[in-house]
Amino acid sequence: MNRLSVPESWVRGCTFLGVRHAILGGAMSWLSEHTLVAAISNAGGFGVLAGGSMPVDLLRQEIRATRERTAAPFGVNLITMHPALPDLVRMVAEEKVGHCILAGGLPEQETISTLKELGVKVVVFAPSLALAQRLIRRGADALIIEGNEAGGHVGPVSTGVLTQEILHQIDTVPVFVAGGIANGRMVASLVGMGAAGCQLGTRFVCASECIAHENFKQAFIRAQARDAVVTAQFDPILPVIPVRALVNKGTNLFNQKQLQLIEEVRSGQKDRKDAQMELELFWVGALRRAAIEGDVEFGSVMAGQSVGLVKSIQPVQEIIDELVSNL
Ligand SMILES: Cc1cc2nc3c(=O)[nH]c(=O)nc-3n(C[C@H](O)[C@H](O)[C@H](O)COP(=O)(O)O)c2cc1C
Repeated sequence: MNRLSVPESWVRGCTFLGVRHAILGGAMSWLSEHTLVAAISNAGGFGVLAGGSMPVDLLRQEIRATRERTAAPFGVNLITMHPALPDLVRMVAEEKVGHCILAGGLPEQETISTLKELGVKVVVFAPSLALAQRLIRRGADALIIEGNEAGGHVGPVSTGVLTQEILHQIDTVPVFVAGGIANGRMVASLVGMGAAGCQLGTRFVCASECIAHENFKQAFIRAQARDAVVTAQFDPILPVIPVRALVNKGTNLFNQKQLQLIEEVRSGQKDRKDAQMELELFWVGALRRAAIEGDVEFGSVMAGQSVGLVKSIQPVQEIIDELVSNL
């Protein structure tokens, strides 16, 4: 990489994260554990541990296990709807994690302020310009804009449109871009447009160091972009966050679960919030079934559209070197 020609925004991203390459390994439940996270950070990128639905002690163990494998910085992703969020926030600060990425809905002022007071830098997902500005007013230190092309839970707007709506308008904090990114040319284009760096998930699933089951990795290698489809919402009585995954029999299981919950909400048997939480927990189990147990037929194979660009299993170092090769 020719450092002299590297855009200022990239240098800002690297400085903010404290890394050589502002490439974030986006948190992936079950998969972004200490092995993959340490490998990404050791390769000069920024690994992010997935807090997911983990209890405090288990996540603390993961943080410590990551530290045993790398002296480089890494972050922790917390889901704002986690019932133990305040305890998780305190634990992350106690463990001296430098950066916390808050996902799963708009974080409360209190969460952001507490993290900052405890010395943790706060990174949040911004789904629109108005919300990006509100999050900056609440104290967010950096933003991630994640397009609908991404794997896992997604918003409705594409990376290209979010780039024009948010990236081109915000210069007070670093803005990282995610969703549909798989190669160095794309990274260089986004950084050239002002991105502080890029976050990838799908491509890192096929890293040699990723603990995903071989069946899960091979499903990625076989898939085309069009196979990674967003789930449907059947009735506004039960709002669901769309999830992008490879279509399989597990997609039908989700649809059946959703229909069953809609009936239970309609008949007053179940509260809407409880039903939404049940659906979220369904995903946790379904992803584990595919990603860890290897049941790619009935489990959830969450993947972004960039899955069509993933052609082989490679060491993390090789992936990161390729991602920064056009800068
Ligand atoms: C299998 C899988 C699981 C994911 N789990 C999470 C998660 O637990 N928390 C989160 O914030 N994002 C999650 N994501 C999103 C990634 O962190 C990342 O932002 C996204 O994958 C980037 O887009 P890409 O898939 O096009 O690279 C997940 C993505 C995948 C593919």
